[in-house]
Amino acid sequence: MKDWLAWHAGYDDPSSSLSVRLRLVREHLSRALEAVPPGPVRLLSLCAGQGHDVLGVLPGHPREPDVSAVLVEQDPRNAALARQRAELAGLAQVEVREADAARVAGYADALPADVLLLCGIFGNVSDPDIRRTAQAAPALCAAGATVIWTRHRRAPDLTPRIRAWFAGSGFEEVAFDSPDNQARTSAAWRSRRPPRCRTARCLPSAPPDSSQRRPARPAAPGRTGSGAGLVPGRQPPGPPRRCRWGMPDNEREAPRAGAARWPGAGVAARAG
Ligand SMILES: C[S@@+](CC[C@H](N)C(=O)[O-])C[C@H]1O[C@@H](n2cnc3c(N)ncnc32)[C@H](O)[C@@H]1O
Repeated sequence: MKDWLAWHAGYDDPSSSLSVRLRLVREHLSRALEAVPPGPVRLLSLCAGQGHDVLGVLPGHPREPDVSAVLVEQDPRNAALARQRAELAGLAQVEVREADAARVAGYADALPADVLLLCGIFGNVSDPDIRRTAQAAPALCAAGATVIWTRHRRAPDLTPRIRAWFAGSGFEEVAFDSPDNQARTSAAWRSRRPPRCRTARCLPSAPPDSSQRRPARPAAPGRTGSGAGLVPGRQPPGPPRRCRWGMPDNEREAPRAGAARWPGAGVAARAG
């Protein structure tokens, strides 16, 4: 069994390939947060480890006040360190959950994510599990969300196939970093579904025009996400409403039923 606490020692050396990768992931994360439309931002990190990426970006980031972050990490030692660091940084909106990332029920309330981190996973699960994860990503993500993932390029280099799987799942590549002398890559992919406005004045509880208020429907069994009470896809008569940022409003999508079990279950089987 791999010692996932010891794995993080690579971050102690700023010149290590892991540290280089961390800097790239942080850059992607910072830009991804900036790209989320004004309003609340849901950040989800699966197999979050000690949270070096999230905790290195949020403090002082312009979107920090908007972000609610859930870090899912199975190793209690790493989870405790991440929690401790978040507290030290005064990041009350970061919640570290000691849980199995393969079980979506453990973080269904944090879906759909505006930014989804899948870092340090694809080198530890089977190829079919990576493909299934890419296929499941739309069910975990809000429209316009960014997924950030990492993978080594040791032979046989799987990154071309991973990129194709994400492209086939409705994402487009924002960045693919493969430093010349490094085996590690990091990539950012954005959902091709256009982002929706989610500012308070455009949410169903406070529509700009109360005559356009839509009835909320009760959450479906097993759905606890805040999006569960919304009615995606239904528009009132007339032209589509646009918020003051010019985006279609009110279309947050609840996680789909198919996301009941995240197929990266192999993480637990192989690495846990
Ligand atoms: C390679 S590390 C990556 C950590 C972090 N994402 C990073 O990039 O710094 C993989 C992490 O996944 C955690 N892990 C393994 N299986 C898991 C599971 N089923 N659910 C949640 N976390 C898991 C390990 O404890 C470890 O901290």
